[in-house]
Amino acid sequence: MIKYKSVTAFAPATVANVSCGFDIMGFAIQGCGDKATIVLAKDSGKEGCDDNQIAMSGKYAHLIPSQRDKNTAGVAVDAYLKATGNQNIKLSIALEKNLPLGSGMGSSAASSVAAVFAVNALLGNLLSVKELIQFAMEGERVACGAAHADNAAPSLLGGFVLIRSYDPLDIIQVHCPDELYCAVLHPHIELNTSDARRVLKRDIPMRDVVKQCANAAGFMTGLLIADYDLLGRSVSDLLAEPKRTMLIPGFEQAKRAALDAGAIGCGISGSGPSIFALCKGESMALLIAEVIDRSFAEAGLLSEAFISPMNAPGALILERR
Ligand code: HSE
Repeated sequence: MIKYKSVTAFAPATVANVSCGFDIMGFAIQGCGDKATIVLAKDSGKEGCDDNQIAMSGKYAHLIPSQRDKNTAGVAVDAYLKATGNQNIKLSIALEKNLPLGSGMGSSAASSVAAVFAVNALLGNLLSVKELIQFAMEGERVACGAAHADNAAPSLLGGFVLIRSYDPLDIIQVHCPDELYCAVLHPHIELNTSDARRVLKRDIPMRDVVKQCANAAGFMTGLLIADYDLLGRSVSDLLAEPKRTMLIPGFEQAKRAALDAGAIGCGISGSGPSIFALCKGESMALLIAEVIDRSFAEAGLLSEAFISPMNAPGALILERR
């Protein structure tokens, strides 16, 4: 059953919600993410790991707990070991934390996904990739109090993902038009998902629910028939964005600037403060990234840009020994 002594996996950042799909839609972003290495305990000394402490490295390592039961990667791995009856296997975890926290780019999910993907490979792929989502969601529960899957699922599977149901979990991958790109801009402020969830309304008027459902259906149809106008009309959020806008300085101006410059649609990435803009073609995405960056600069915020096709890859194994 134990197949390797050590496995390293990468899991990408993600954009959740996609405006019209609060908690039910997300997609992977190419080129940025976290890495996790799982080592069987007898080798852990060589890696400088201790079973109950996660060996942390990377730009944002100092900002998250290294204690295994408080770290999203540790929680996800332990949930996996318990569910597969392997809680007696001693292994250690090393996490390279490259994604900023409280960024709206699925940072906590990327850590748990990388870790659970690695441990599954180490144990000979006991579970399917889709079955791993539930364990990464346990990491999300620790990070923000809500076991949402709209970052974890696309980070694991790649591309665009719809969570049709949470109970039972029903995850659907949808291939996007190949020309569809995304610009994600991360303004350098931190916004905790738990705080950004706290501001949400508990009661939503029926007319808003109807509009949100119609937009979600419109967006899915737009992806399937490559109708960019329909996608643009559907990227609209009546649930979270109206309440979260005030948490992101310069958001409205940046969104306006992106749309005026030709973005198909624009909204808050996950719980923010990052914002995403859907674009036709990579060069348009680069241009829109510059426009949003300038707009945030006018609001006094530095930002970092990520450009990605919508069909970006999900978690992958980097090394196994
Ligand atoms: N759907 C979650 C939220 C995503 O908006 O709170 C968090 O990244």
